[in-house]
Amino acid sequence: MRAAGLSHVRLAEFAWARLEPAQNCFEWAWLDSVIGILAGEGLKVIVCTPTAAPPAWLVRAAPEILPIGEDGHRREFGSRRHYCPTQPAFREHTRRIVAAMATRYGRHPAVVGWQIDNELGDHNTGRCYCAACVTAFRQWLARNYGTLAAVNDAWGTEFWSQGYTDWSQIDAPNRTVAGPNPSHVLDYYRFSSDSYASYLQLQLDLLRQWAPGQAATTNFILSPDPGLDYHQLARPLDFVSWDSYPTGYAEVQAKALYGPDVQRPRLAFDLGDPYVTGFAHDLARGLKGSQPFWILEQQCGHINWGVYNPGVRAGAVRLWTWHAVAAGAEAVFYFNWRATLFAQEQYHSGLLNHDASPAVGYADLLAMQPERDLMAQVAAEPVQAHVGLLLDYADLWALQLQPHHRDFGYLRHLFVFYRALRRFGLTVDLVTPAADLSRYPLVIGPTLFLVSEPLAQSLTSYVQAGGHLLCGVRSGFKTPSNRVTAQPLPGLLRPLISATIAQWHALPPGVDYPLASSIPGLDGAASLWAEALTPWPLAAGQPAATVLAEYAGGPFAGQAAWVETQHGLGQASYLGWYPTESQAAALVLHLAARAGLSVPGEMPPGLILAQRGRFSILLNFTDETLNTQFANCTHTVAARDVSVLSDMGRIVGS
Ligand code: GAL
Ligand code: ZN
Repeated sequence: MRAAGLSHVRLAEFAWARLEPAQNCFEWAWLDSVIGILAGEGLKVIVCTPTAAPPAWLVRAAPEILPIGEDGHRREFGSRRHYCPTQPAFREHTRRIVAAMATRYGRHPAVVGWQIDNELGDHNTGRCYCAACVTAFRQWLARNYGTLAAVNDAWGTEFWSQGYTDWSQIDAPNRTVAGPNPSHVLDYYRFSSDSYASYLQLQLDLLRQWAPGQAATTNFILSPDPGLDYHQLARPLDFVSWDSYPTGYAEVQAKALYGPDVQRPRLAFDLGDPYVTGFAHDLARGLKGSQPFWILEQQCGHINWGVYNPGVRAGAVRLWTWHAVAAGAEAVFYFNWRATLFAQEQYHSGLLNHDASPAVGYADLLAMQPERDLMAQVAAEPVQAHVGLLLDYADLWALQLQPHHRDFGYLRHLFVFYRALRRFGLTVDLVTPAADLSRYPLVIGPTLFLVSEPLAQSLTSYVQAGGHLLCGVRSGFKTPSNRVTAQPLPGLLRPLISATIAQWHALPPGVDYPLASSIPGLDGAASLWAEALTPWPLAAGQPAATVLAEYAGGPFAGQAAWVETQHGLGQASYLGWYPTESQAAALVLHLAARAGLSVPGEMPPGLILAQRGRFSILLNFTDETLNTQFANCTHTVAARDVSVLSDMGRIVGS
C-alpha cells in the first residue's frame, strides 16, 4: 500500500459478525492488530461502523429488524442492508456496536475518521413498510400537521372517499388496488428519508461523544436516486463522501439520465461516461454548498454489478482520480484492495488480483506517483462554480409519482441543461433551491415543481439583488403537499415571471411544435412538453416580460414560448418547452452572456474541462486525440489523457 502511494485505509464496513460474534462478546484483537500494522507503516485509518450487515444471531434474536418491501414481503438475511432504520430494537443494537467501536478506536492516533454504515438506501432499502414504520409515520404526520383535519385537507382525501377519522386508519401507501394518493406517498417518502436521517444522527451523536477528534461521514450513492433526501442527510456530516463507479453508472444509470432520442457521445468503452460521473461529483460538491468531498470508493478495475462489466485498460484509474480531484475531491479511496476469492463479489476487481499480484489499477497508482504533488496542489484550491443547477428531492419524487409523460424524467431534464453547461466548460454546482444562491451569477431551475411562499420569496430576492434565474417547464405547478396550485400557472412564481401559462401540452413521440426565435442557434421545434405563455405586467408598475421565442406553428402558433423579465438588478426568465441538447446549448450561451459570465470555451464530446482555483484540467474520455480552444490557445489532449494547466502553462499532459 505504501509503495503504491496510498496514505489512508478504510476498513470494517461489514465486520459486525467478526467484531461481536455473540451479543456483548466483542473480539477486538484482530482489528487492533490490523490497525496496528497499518499505523506502523504510517498509514491512517477510516473505521466504518458495520451496521449495514447485522449478523445472523441478531436477526434471529430480533427478526422484526428485517425490512418490509413495498410489495409487503419481508426481506431476509443473507446479503446486506437487511434492516429497518426505524425499528427500536435495531437502534438499540446499533447503539451498542457503535459505542463499543467508538470507545475502542475514538482516540487511536492512526484513526482519523469514521464512515457511518454503508451506502444508505442501496439495494432499494430507502423505504421500509413494516409496522414500526407505519406507527412512526402516524406520529410524524401528527408532528408535522397537528391535526387529522390538516392531513385530510393537504392530501385531498375527499377524493375517492379516502377521509380519515382516526390516526390509526392511516397506513403506508403500498399494496393499493389502483394508484395511491400522491400526497400520501410523497409524505411517506419524506418520512422514510427522515427516518434514515435520524438513524444517521444516532450514530453521529455516539461518534461525536466517543470519538470527538475524528471526522464523520458516510458513503453516499449519488447516481441517480436511491430514494433519500441527500441535502438533509449531508447537513450534519463533517463532509460529503460518495462512491464512484464510472463503468457501472454508464451501463446502468445513464439510461435514467439520457432521454430515449438523445445521441450519446462516443466514448472509450472502459472509461464510463464523464457527464454521468461528473453530474454526481457536482452534486457531491453542491450538497453542503460548494464544499470539497471525498470519494470513499473509487472503481479501480472491472466491477461485477454492471451489464457487461468491461475490463479496464491502463490509464482509466488515473483519469478517474484526476476527474474526481478536479471536481472537488480532497481524497480518493479505491475499492478494493484485493479481489475477493469468495461470495457475492468474487467477480469484482481490486488493486491486487485474486492471486495478490498487482492489477491494472495498482500499475496506474504507480504511474501517478510523479503527479501526486501536483494533485495535492490542485486539491488545495477552491472550486468556484459559475452556475447553480437546482435539484430538489421532493420535486424529483413528485414527478416520479406522476410524470404525466412516460419520457419526462426530472433528472433527465436537469441533465440536458447540465450537459449544455459543461459543453462550454461552465462549472456547475447541483444545489438545493434552499441553498444560498447569491454566489451564482446564473441559476437554472429546470422544474421548480413544488413551490412554497418562502421559496418564491427567496428566488425573487435572488433576482432582485442581481441574479439571473431560468425556470423551466412545470415550474410553480404544485404546492409542497403535492397538490396543484389554485392560482394561474406558474402559481407563486407568476409575479417573478410576469407571464401566465395559458395552456400546456404533453407531446407524444413524433409530435412537435415549431419554434421561432432571434436568439442565435435557437431553432427547431418543441418536443416532449410545450407550454404557451401569455406575457403581461401583472400589476401597475410591475415589469413586463420580453418574448425571446415563440411558437411558429401547431396549436400554440403565435404564442410566447420563452419570456424574460427584468427585476431590480437581475432577470428572471421562463422557458416553456423541454429543450433538446442543441437548443439547450443556445439557451446557455444567451443566459451566460446575460449573467456576465465569460464562457471558457467549447469542448468536443468526451473532453471535460474542470477548473479549480488557478488550475484548469482537461480530461479526454475518448480513444481519440481531441482539441479545444480555451484561454486564447488551442489545446490538444491525447486519448485517455489529462492535461493540467495553470497560469504558468501546461504542467502535465502529452
Ligand atoms: C459499493 C459498495 C461496496 C461494494 C461495491 C462493489 O456500492 O459500497 O461494498 O459492494 O459497491 O462495486
Ligand atoms: Zn420499517
